[in-house]
Amino acid sequence: MTEAQPRLRAALRGIPVYKPGKPAVSATGAPVYKLSSNENPYAPLPGVMETVTNAAQSFNRYPDMACAGLTAELAKRFDVPESHIATGTGSVGVAQQLLQATSGPGDEVIYAWRSFEAYPIITQVAGATSVPVPLTDGEVHDLDAMLAAVTDRTRLIFVCNPNNPTGTVVRRAELERFLDRVPSDVLVVLDEAYREFIRDPQVPDGTELYRDRPNVCVLRTFSKAYGLAGLRVGFAIAHEPVAAALRQTAVPFGVSQLAQDAAVASLRSEEALLERVDSLVAERTRVYEALTEQGWTVPETQANFVWLRLGDRTLDFAAACERAGVVVRPFQGEGIRATIGEREANDLFLRAAAEFRKEL
Ligand SMILES: Cc1ncc(COP(=O)(O)O)c(C=O)c1O
Repeated sequence: MTEAQPRLRAALRGIPVYKPGKPAVSATGAPVYKLSSNENPYAPLPGVMETVTNAAQSFNRYPDMACAGLTAELAKRFDVPESHIATGTGSVGVAQQLLQATSGPGDEVIYAWRSFEAYPIITQVAGATSVPVPLTDGEVHDLDAMLAAVTDRTRLIFVCNPNNPTGTVVRRAELERFLDRVPSDVLVVLDEAYREFIRDPQVPDGTELYRDRPNVCVLRTFSKAYGLAGLRVGFAIAHEPVAAALRQTAVPFGVSQLAQDAAVASLRSEEALLERVDSLVAERTRVYEALTEQGWTVPETQANFVWLRLGDRTLDFAAACERAGVVVRPFQGEGIRATIGEREANDLFLRAAAEFRKEL
């Protein structure tokens, strides 16, 4: 045996680790509610469950590699050509394909920070250089600063709308102004993972903005509002060259037949699913108002989570929540993100927040 190790790419050194939300078990082993991963708290709809159970009868077979049924359904749903749709293993899988398709060593990728924690990881995996642009004091994307960060090496810009973990949004006028100024050979990815939770009419729908902008790509997912996080299916809507590049970079057979069939069944059960989203939005309002009443400064959120900036009290707050029976997502030294869950879970979170507030 030689001592030599396989040579790995230098780009992987020091790569940030993706921290999944903690599971619903506390340090003492007591069951707790999981408000740490922005998941949908509702169990799958019975019809969707039945579809998945049926699909499971034939998982000895490979799935439809082209995701033809799902692609046709999505094209109809969004009124776009089928050639503009590309599916992948969750929208994070599609985001990684976008990096592979556009960026390599020497290229730059701009995103707001803090934002979705996968952006720096997938950028570094591609060998490209991250250009994080701080959020404004109001926790919103600083689109002017992002524009100023564009160089002739910029290949891709993420705009996370609403932003994870702050829940804040960019509105139509500012986003259109930004898109009009970004060079047309730079791909702008509108990550709309939480689109269905938006109630602010001023927030534009990326699937409209992309139509006359060949350098705009919209990312959507079935993981959040549609409740299919564990099945891993997301998609992009983009003009043909970008969508075709996504098909080139896809892992063959990445999206399972269970996921494809569940996604189609979910689109067909959209009404029932979106009613659940309405309930979560009502809970969001309740949680937001209660926190504000308690004296917290909470950025206005259009997603299924709230953000509390806690600085060096972050881990203490997360521990206090866990003792109270809810797991939230701490970002050490910055703040916590708490998903809007079932009413009982939200009540426990609010009680923990009220208690903590008294100690500040
Ligand atoms: C902004 C954003 N984009 C994309 C994703 C990825 O979701 P998925 O890969 O489950 O579609 C997430 C998940 O947390 C997210 O917050």
